[in-house]
Amino acid sequence: MLKVAVIIGSTRPGRNGEAVGRWVHDLAAERADAEFELVDLKDYPLPHLDEAMPAATGRYGLPHTRKWAEKIASFDAYVFVTPEYNHSTSGVLKNAIDFLYAEWNDKAAGFVSYGVGGGGRAVEHLRLVMGELQVADVRAQVELSLVTDFENFSVFQPAAQQEDALTAMLDQVIAWGEALRPLRRPRAA
Ligand SMILES: Cc1cc2nc3c(=O)[nH]c(=O)nc-3n(C[C@H](O)[C@H](O)[C@H](O)COP(=O)(O)O)c2cc1C
Repeated sequence: MLKVAVIIGSTRPGRNGEAVGRWVHDLAAERADAEFELVDLKDYPLPHLDEAMPAATGRYGLPHTRKWAEKIASFDAYVFVTPEYNHSTSGVLKNAIDFLYAEWNDKAAGFVSYGVGGGGRAVEHLRLVMGELQVADVRAQVELSLVTDFENFSVFQPAAQQEDALTAMLDQVIAWGEALRPLRRPRAA
């Protein structure tokens, strides 16, 4: 069965990202067409990128990189849960993405963003990054507004239609994740 990571892309104390990530995971886990796992960047503390060689070489020298690589390699697809920080994604998520290369390739991805205005600008930046990593990012996305999907900007209470948006995005991620399977088969030497 397709394995999908729901990656919580913020680590700030008091973050809204955890509630959003849990909402995504809880709803996704009701599906029978894929397996979902919550991956919290807090559980994979990475320093600012400190590998000597670019990730695309696959030469990972440090234990924290290898642990992160092993986790990310175990999935067929990803749902990135991203805040919008200064019209982009979070530094901690971008850093975690930059640590790896081949582990992301030929996988599918979808996005759930949140911010004052829904976080869509964070997703636009992530889409550029996905292209370089050879990740197929789906069109459907979930944008959660701190004004209408949270109470007092901090208590997550998603509007009813957001579940439909999430379902539409997951449908696409699973379809593309399945379609890309032939590319992920180990290649003959
Ligand atoms: C450094 C910083 C920059 C932010 N910039 C934006 C922004 O450009 N646009 C926006 O809609 N919200 C912005 N926000 C609001 C965040 O999206 C909001 O606080 C969100 O809850 C942050 O995610 P987190 O709570 O999981 O850390 C910013 C917040 C921070 C901390």
